[in-house]
Amino acid sequence: MRLVLLGLPGAGKGTQGERIAEKYGIPHISTGSIIRERIASGDSVGQEVDALISKGDLVPDGLVIKMVSERLSKPDCKKGWILDGFPRTVPQARALDLSLVKNGLDVQIAFDIRITQKEAIDRIAKRRMCSECGAVYHLEHYRAKGKGVCDSCGGDLYRRSDDTEETARKRLSVYMMQTHPVVHYYSLTGRLFSVDGVRAIQDVFVDIDHYLQRLVKNKSVGEAQ
Ligand code: AP5
Repeated sequence: MRLVLLGLPGAGKGTQGERIAEKYGIPHISTGSIIRERIASGDSVGQEVDALISKGDLVPDGLVIKMVSERLSKPDCKKGWILDGFPRTVPQARALDLSLVKNGLDVQIAFDIRITQKEAIDRIAKRRMCSECGAVYHLEHYRAKGKGVCDSCGGDLYRRSDDTEETARKRLSVYMMQTHPVVHYYSLTGRLFSVDGVRAIQDVFVDIDHYLQRLVKNKSVGEAQ
């Protein structure tokens, strides 16, 4: 199973990606997380991209394509993967298709999780993340049981540096200019499935999962490689 999750910042790509990964036993690969790990490592690439991500700008295509291609070559990706936050530009989408086609593979489905810009700003402002395991919480919709600590691992919860309202607005505008065309890219090639993301987390998952169950049953497109 090879899936792409699209949607505005805060649409719930990470939240749904974790649930799909858990159910289907394939890795959830978030380019945002890979980039944040690189920044935390303090190496020269991390320093270079830190300034971009904090302003809400995209990291250059070449760098992200290399990061993703390294990650997809790992053994745990043999049975499939979920890409969250990639591709984010049409050149990234083309590069992914080209690299897959060489191995007789493709992206089977791109889920576009749709929310309004207002909802996106609200979710981003109230998101908290675990500093240890990366679990995602929300101050109202999906609260951690303990105060300021992760339910799964007990790590401290923090607010992402790019989750300020000003940066969130910039990220939304970058999305509309550079990532929205990727939705059309998958639509034109018959691989897009849109999901209403302004519902309870579990309801969104049920829709996605319903589609995935059909994909798994349909051997002609669903056979994991
Ligand atoms: P990235 O980390 O990918 O950020 P993003 O795309 O802006 O998406 P988010 O992580 O903000 O949101 P999400 O959709 O995952 O929502 P979540 O599940 O957390 O990228 C960060 C930066 O890295 C980019 O700005 C860019 O600079 C760089 N970058 C990354 N990939 C790149 C690429 N390919 N090319 C170039 N640059 C790249 O949910 C949000 C909140 O809402 C949470 O609090 C959650 O609990 C809550 N929530 C989720 N679902 C629901 C629901 N149904 N109802 C109520 N609340 C919900």
